[in-house]
Amino acid sequence: MSVKIKALLETAPEGQQVTVQGWVRTFRANRFIALNDGSTLGNLQCVVDFEDFDETLLKDVTTGSALKISGRYVESQGKGQTADIQVEDLLIYGTADPESYPIQPKKHSFEFLREKAHLRVRTATFSAVMRVRAALAYGVHKFFREEGFHYVNTPIITGSDAEGAGEMFRVSALDTKNPPLDENGNVDVSQDFFGKETHLTVSGQLEAETYAMGLGEVYTFGPTFRAENSNTTRHLAEFWMIEPEMAFFDLNDNMDLAEKFIKSVLTYALDNCKEDLAFLDERYAKEENSKPKAERSEMGLLEKIQFIVENDFKRVSYTEAIDILRNCKPNKKKKFKYLIEEWGADLQSEHERYLVEKHFKTPVILFDYPAKIKAFYMRMNEDGKTVRAMDILFPGIGEMVGGSQREERLDVLQERIKAMGIDEEELWWYLDLRKFGSAPHSGFGLGFERLVLFATGMGNIRDVIPFPRTPQNASF
Ligand code: 4AD
Ligand code: MG
Repeated sequence: MSVKIKALLETAPEGQQVTVQGWVRTFRANRFIALNDGSTLGNLQCVVDFEDFDETLLKDVTTGSALKISGRYVESQGKGQTADIQVEDLLIYGTADPESYPIQPKKHSFEFLREKAHLRVRTATFSAVMRVRAALAYGVHKFFREEGFHYVNTPIITGSDAEGAGEMFRVSALDTKNPPLDENGNVDVSQDFFGKETHLTVSGQLEAETYAMGLGEVYTFGPTFRAENSNTTRHLAEFWMIEPEMAFFDLNDNMDLAEKFIKSVLTYALDNCKEDLAFLDERYAKEENSKPKAERSEMGLLEKIQFIVENDFKRVSYTEAIDILRNCKPNKKKKFKYLIEEWGADLQSEHERYLVEKHFKTPVILFDYPAKIKAFYMRMNEDGKTVRAMDILFPGIGEMVGGSQREERLDVLQERIKAMGIDEEELWWYLDLRKFGSAPHSGFGLGFERLVLFATGMGNIRDVIPFPRTPQNASF
């Protein structure tokens, strides 16, 4: 049985016989193999006495090759590591031709590595990011489980448009070259696989609501899809969303839960990803230092995470936020691309980032948005103008969470559905919830990659998901 390098590096070297398996990061001086198996950031040094081995065999020990090594685990003679393996047996599973293997021991740009997304996890940075991602996902399930929530899986193929945004990918099994037509010459969707038009889901919320109305507190954690043509460092066409939905929660309970949730998951990462986060902290500091002074972040990565965990999020109503924005310098000096003129304006990411990064300098929960700019399912306030919505805005990221208290009154909901031109027929089951045992309830959605982006200090959302899907790009 082989051991994981992580476990071995935590064991005292006493000359014990061990076997490890992994990939070569570097092979120096025909003697020192730095082996990595993905279990941890650190490499294990394996020392080869070349007299013991056939020269042609050692030629195949190249960066990227996969090895099985057995030997004695001893205190290191050299500097830089406390222990290493004196290699006695070496098996090469597969070599990697140095002429064509792209991941060489030198600095590669993230743009270059995106084109090698199938191999980039073999670099220190991407392996660290992906280990942190996995830990955060575990932290998500741990938090909800311990809070008494039930994990539910909502459908990926859907017949409804949850956000009413219309930015959906169509799902069809029809022959695109020769689709069946109806008598008017339109594509006859009744002959499609599901007998109707279907799409990839933009959110599991509506289905999660049905489960909250029976299980009480539930959450989803699954892939969601948006066909919006946003080529930014914060948008993916396929991303993972965490959506809790809670019966008997009002908007304040919702905000409390969201804040507690984010803090808990980040704390989990701080406690369980020390080595990877220290490495990413260093990377982040280097990157910040290469920027002009005015653009540099005031805090390091670990400091930023710590700051979020230790400080209360600032809660501000949309109306207050608009007042701040209307009177702020970049608005008056026409520095914003979209100027804030009147109440009711939709907030763009430049506004959100101004509030968080320049004005409050802390995460902000904005609530009570104008009904006009929010989805149909949000609960109408007494004023008849605003809805019980909340967005959580993060420094460097913008919107991290979007959520609301849901409209539980059948008549009010039907009115809004009509006003927004949504087809009530499709939502019959959603309206049933308001007919049979309706109750106040709330929920929110957190974009998992945005959280990973924040926690790892990476600059582009394409670098925190294994295989990013963005406009014009679905390789791998
Ligand atoms: O604000 P959104 O659109 O909210 C919903 O979908 C609600 N149904 C959630 C709910 O109440 N259950 O999306 C929620 C979050 C955003 O705050 C953002 O973090 C993330 O999902 N998000 C994206 N992340 C990456 N790429 C995109 N294109 C994203 N669009 C939204
Ligand atoms: Mg939103």
